[in-house]
Amino acid sequence: MLVAETVDQVRIAVRSARAAGKSVGFVPTMGALHAGHRSLMDASRRECDFHIVSIFVNPTQFGPHEDLARYPRPRDADLELCRTAGIDLVFYPPVEVMYPPNYRTFVEVAGLSSLLEGAVRPGHFRGVATVVTKLLLIAGADRAYFGQKDYQQQTIIRVMVSELNLPTEIRVCPTLRDPDGLAMSSRNAYLTPEQRQAGLSLSRALHLAQRIVDSGEQSVTTIERAMHEILAGTPGVEPDYAVLRHPDTLEELTEILPAMVALIAARVGTTRLIDNQVLQVEL
Ligand code: PAJ
Repeated sequence: MLVAETVDQVRIAVRSARAAGKSVGFVPTMGALHAGHRSLMDASRRECDFHIVSIFVNPTQFGPHEDLARYPRPRDADLELCRTAGIDLVFYPPVEVMYPPNYRTFVEVAGLSSLLEGAVRPGHFRGVATVVTKLLLIAGADRAYFGQKDYQQQTIIRVMVSELNLPTEIRVCPTLRDPDGLAMSSRNAYLTPEQRQAGLSLSRALHLAQRIVDSGEQSVTTIERAMHEILAGTPGVEPDYAVLRHPDTLEELTEILPAMVALIAARVGTTRLIDNQVLQVEL
């Protein structure tokens, strides 16, 4: 497994993989890798021949008071996970490679970037869209793999790739959860055992939403209120939002649709957790 720090190293490795007739899969990450990341690598292994992972804690997607400095960076464990996952190339760039001094070019998907997570974290999706565009252009992969865990992120990336005509197919993989239901996240490492317990309220609220929908409830606000009550009723949990939205546009709903997405964000102590579930409705 090659660990590359420069763009040229990546391009040379990808060119020789292509010359050998191999298809290329790419998994962008910020490291602190867990089984959720691993599932994206496994999807690449199933569908492609040459596998790239990037590990880059992207400063432009963190707000001034967010956790950029304390974000976990377990380099050795991350490289070991990539090695055992059968990854061929890890792109592990220093910040100056991605953002040289006086860097000034940004990508923004208007509208979608200012809702929900974007309303709570201004500038976040501009940073994500910018770094993902750069990473996709550097990797030049046939397919890139993202998690449904970050539902709004994958929505924005799919729109961006389509509108910018980027030549990589975006594949979205299901959310991996711990046995207790907590969606896996690098940020779960911040949680104390009590906070972790409180964090289970997110997946509980999503389950409840599906149950209420199954019971035939026709009011969007009733379902949203029920999710909100589970979060707000759990000590130590401060909900940011608990909503039902259109699964493609993330627009607000006035009526129940055959497919909807329930999206939740809450703070548990100083840690922000997000989770979501696509709700299927039998009409
Ligand atoms: P990061 O949080 O490291 O996540 C990298 C990828 O792993 C994302 O596509 C994310 O949705 C996916 N992922 C995270 N937890 C998952 C889980 N429990 N199950 C399945 N997939 C999961 O998301 C980012 O990094 C960054 O914003 C990035 C896209 C790399 C741009 O900097």
